[in-house]
Amino acid sequence: MASLTQLLSVTVVLGAFKLISGYSFKNCIADAYSKGKSFTCIHRKQSNMSAIVNDLPHSAINLTISINPLSHIPNNSFVNLPNLQHLKIDHNHLMDINEHAFDKLYQLKSLNLSFNYISKLSPSVFNDLHNLTFLSLTNNTIKQLHRDIFFSVVNLETLLLRQNFLSHFSEIAESVSHLRNLKTLDLCFNNLTSLSHSNVSLPKSLTILYLCRNNLFTLGCKPSFLRFIQILDLSYNSRLPAMAFEGVDLGQTNYLRLRSTGVKIAEFLNISNINANHVDFSGTGLKDDNLLAEFCTMLKAKVKRIKNLDLGNNRIRNLTKYTLFRCPDITGALDLSRNELKNTRCLNFLRQTNIRSFNAEHNHLTSLQGCKTRNMVSFFKLKEMSYRYNRILSVNSYAFYHTPNITELKLNINTIAFLHRKALKGLKKLETLRLDNNLLTDLFNDTFEDNVNLKILNLRNNRISVIFNGTFLRLTKLTTLDLGGNKITHFEPSGLDGLKRLSKFYLDGNNLKQIESSLSHVFQDTLTVLDLAGNQIRFLSENIKSPPFVNLSKLSDLKLDAQRPFGLTVLPRTLFRGLRSLKSLYLTNNYINHLPPDAFDDLTGLHFLTLDNCCVGVIDLQPGVFKNLRNVTKLIVENMGIQNFSKEIFENFTRLHTLQLNRNVMQSINVDALESLPKLQYLDVRNIPLSCTCLNQGLQDWTLKNVNVQVVYLYNLSCQNDENYKFYNFDTKVCYIDLGESLFFSTAAVIFLFTVIPILYVKLYWKMKYSYYVFRSWFGEQWRRLKEEEENCKFDAFISYNSSDEQWVMDQLLPNLEGNGSSFKLCLHHRDFEPGRYIVDNIVSAVYSSRKTICVVSRNFLQSEWCSLEIQLASYRLFDEHRDVLLLVFLEPISERQMSSYHRMRKVMLKKTYLQWPGSDCDDPEPAQDLFWNKLRRAMRTGSRVKTEESDKSEGCVTDESKDNEISDENYYLLP
Ligand SMILES: *[C@@H]1O[C@H](CO)[C@@H](O)[C@H](O)[C@H]1NC(C)=O
Ligand SMILES: *[C@@H]1O[C@H](CO)[C@@H](O)[C@H](O)[C@H]1NC(C)=O
Ligand SMILES: *[C@@H]1O[C@H](CO)[C@@H](O)[C@H](O)[C@H]1NC(C)=O
Repeated sequence: MASLTQLLSVTVVLGAFKLISGYSFKNCIADAYSKGKSFTCIHRKQSNMSAIVNDLPHSAINLTISINPLSHIPNNSFVNLPNLQHLKIDHNHLMDINEHAFDKLYQLKSLNLSFNYISKLSPSVFNDLHNLTFLSLTNNTIKQLHRDIFFSVVNLETLLLRQNFLSHFSEIAESVSHLRNLKTLDLCFNNLTSLSHSNVSLPKSLTILYLCRNNLFTLGCKPSFLRFIQILDLSYNSRLPAMAFEGVDLGQTNYLRLRSTGVKIAEFLNISNINANHVDFSGTGLKDDNLLAEFCTMLKAKVKRIKNLDLGNNRIRNLTKYTLFRCPDITGALDLSRNELKNTRCLNFLRQTNIRSFNAEHNHLTSLQGCKTRNMVSFFKLKEMSYRYNRILSVNSYAFYHTPNITELKLNINTIAFLHRKALKGLKKLETLRLDNNLLTDLFNDTFEDNVNLKILNLRNNRISVIFNGTFLRLTKLTTLDLGGNKITHFEPSGLDGLKRLSKFYLDGNNLKQIESSLSHVFQDTLTVLDLAGNQIRFLSENIKSPPFVNLSKLSDLKLDAQRPFGLTVLPRTLFRGLRSLKSLYLTNNYINHLPPDAFDDLTGLHFLTLDNCCVGVIDLQPGVFKNLRNVTKLIVENMGIQNFSKEIFENFTRLHTLQLNRNVMQSINVDALESLPKLQYLDVRNIPLSCTCLNQGLQDWTLKNVNVQVVYLYNLSCQNDENYKFYNFDTKVCYIDLGESLFFSTAAVIFLFTVIPILYVKLYWKMKYSYYVFRSWFGEQWRRLKEEEENCKFDAFISYNSSDEQWVMDQLLPNLEGNGSSFKLCLHHRDFEPGRYIVDNIVSAVYSSRKTICVVSRNFLQSEWCSLEIQLASYRLFDEHRDVLLLVFLEPISERQMSSYHRMRKVMLKKTYLQWPGSDCDDPEPAQDLFWNKLRRAMRTGSRVKTEESDKSEGCVTDESKDNEISDENYYLLP
């Protein structure tokens, strides 16, 4: 009994172990390097909050639940996640949040509920969130806020209520008035009409107030209400007049936005006490010379100099000379973006030469004229200039001669087709030049002649096809050169000369057909990033003469993915020779047909490798191909046609943290191989045809129980054989005999018998003894009956034959069995069948009243319907009654093939011996035939099965050619 309890307790403990779950989650993914602290649950078709969060660990700190059909957060949804600090539940369908939904989230610092359909919030819903500093309710349908709703969130610093339907400012003011730490309040895109409020004030700490896109027609607040506000956005309140500011203290405000309001600037500047320096005049209708001149005069009367003058979005079409002359001195930025300027005329409308930044983005400029003329004012302090988003087609010579000190020039996103070779003349201090997204076709060897300090040159998305000799010769300080998205087919031999410090070189999306050999010697110790993706590089042989990157000892990032149109095709064995510093390598989408086993041997420093869809069809990875990649932490081998994830190939990834195996073709994954990756934490095996068979029993167990590796969406993986079944719970009971269970049951059975038998023995001794005798006498009776039946047979044998073989039966069989010393009684159908009776009945009674049935088998016999019935009956007795009545005599050799359609016959043959008639075509038929009759007689005498008879070839009399395709000699008399 002691052992039983022990066993029971062992079983219980085993059962308890099964409850410990692994490290995979139903609807969430633990962010890769967050150590189980950060979770993202996005795009799940899950409408139940608890189904999303209930398997997350206690340790969770960050949680993002986005784009789910969630409509409801029930009470106490997060009580099991007491350490949450950042909770984001955005872009769901939330309508309804229960009063105690966020209870116990004492550590929560930020809560983002934006982009939902929340219209009402219970006044106590945020009660436990004492540590909350950030709350976003952006884009919901909230109409009203309860005055106590923020009662407990006293640490709140940022409150975003943009894009709702709030219309009563006073209730908002009341609800936030006690928040001593509130800094930012965003109320843009609501339905507020004024700032009227009851007897409350805004917290002193509140310095940033956004009120854009409401319906304000007045401010209507107490004079001191906005006195602590530093940044005030009142834009897009089209009904708000200048009068609204009368008496309102904006003394502290250092940025006021008035775009698209009804405010008349001249009037406003007269009324308000705001420092004019701090007003953004963009979008205030200052569109023509007169208005601007008036404005400047007025402004200058207020301030001597202004830091930034924002005149964007004013529909200014033209700035004539002197328009801005009367404005105060500008020491910072002049913004003229989003106007309708056609020309900037070398900034001749400006006298303020102290500006540091000039912005004319989003205008209608079509060209930049030359500025090297006499009397031209120079802007020596100007550092930054932007002409993005215009329609500039040509940039003429000396276009920037008046701004010689600019360090950053943005000419991108235009239609520049003509950049005069002297256009950039004089820009000796230029460090960043953006020329991307234009229509440039040619760069001349003097285009960048003066730009000796250039560090970043962006020429992406132009139409450059050749880099001529000397183009970059003077750019010795350039570190980043972006030539991506052009049509470059080649570089002239010294096209890259001069780029002594180049570190990042982007050449993706060009038409290069080979890897330029100049790369390797020009950039020896400088290049760190090289992007060659999307070119037309292709190799024809695994053996190349000189490895193209061999000298790039600092290269850490190499992209070679997606070569057009056919991919790299062949991966040369020495392609990556020398790249010992390489950290990331991209080889995706390349139709490579074979990965040479030594291709990656030099990449000992590699951290990231993606081979996603690198290859053609089912790839045959050779052991050792990854042997030196011990430092790789992230490996993407998606869609590579991997059939076998084996230890020999992947075991050297000893630092591997993330493994993406999706979309491969293996039906199982070797657990040993996974366990040989000690640092693995993140495993993605989606879209692999994992079979739900005992083959994967170990894998299922491993995915569920190991506590280090997260298997992405494990609980959604389907079985390959049936989409409706899931991998994580397919039935594995049949796969193993549970040792504990069987020990338990066998021990239990033994104990049971030992207990019960003695009791029965004592109680029922006589009864059992009596029963035994009754059984014995019944069995003896049955036995005797069977014997008698056999003895009572009318015939010794029923002969089943086809009429075409009647001759042989009459001439050979009858004399040898009925006469000739042996006196068997045979039943022949023409002689012994009862006339007038159904032939079927006759056959049945003949088979059953004979001790044996001898079938005389010939080809004709096999085709005859009656014979088939006879053999069926006899074989029925053989197989089903276990009475051995059948004797087969083959009159002629019959091949297996001919036999195969007589299924039942074959089965009989396989089970029984049969005799072959030595025909007259035999060499010496006489002795063979004697032997045949002897054997047949012996067989007829036996009541039981015919003994297996060994026989010589000579006895069987077989001709050689019959051996192969006919029943072979060993089978002649017997079958195994
Ligand atoms: C959690 O989120 C915050 C804010 O987004 C971030 O600064 C922090 O690094 C995250 N923590 C973890 C463990 O990912
Ligand atoms: C706020 O969080 C800190 C730790 O981050 C914790 O010690 C403190 O108890 C929390 N405050 C409240 C009121 O729960
Ligand atoms: C919320 O955002 C959607 C688009 O994302 C917008 O169409 C809708 O107007 C926004 N709602 C409010 C109240 O602004």
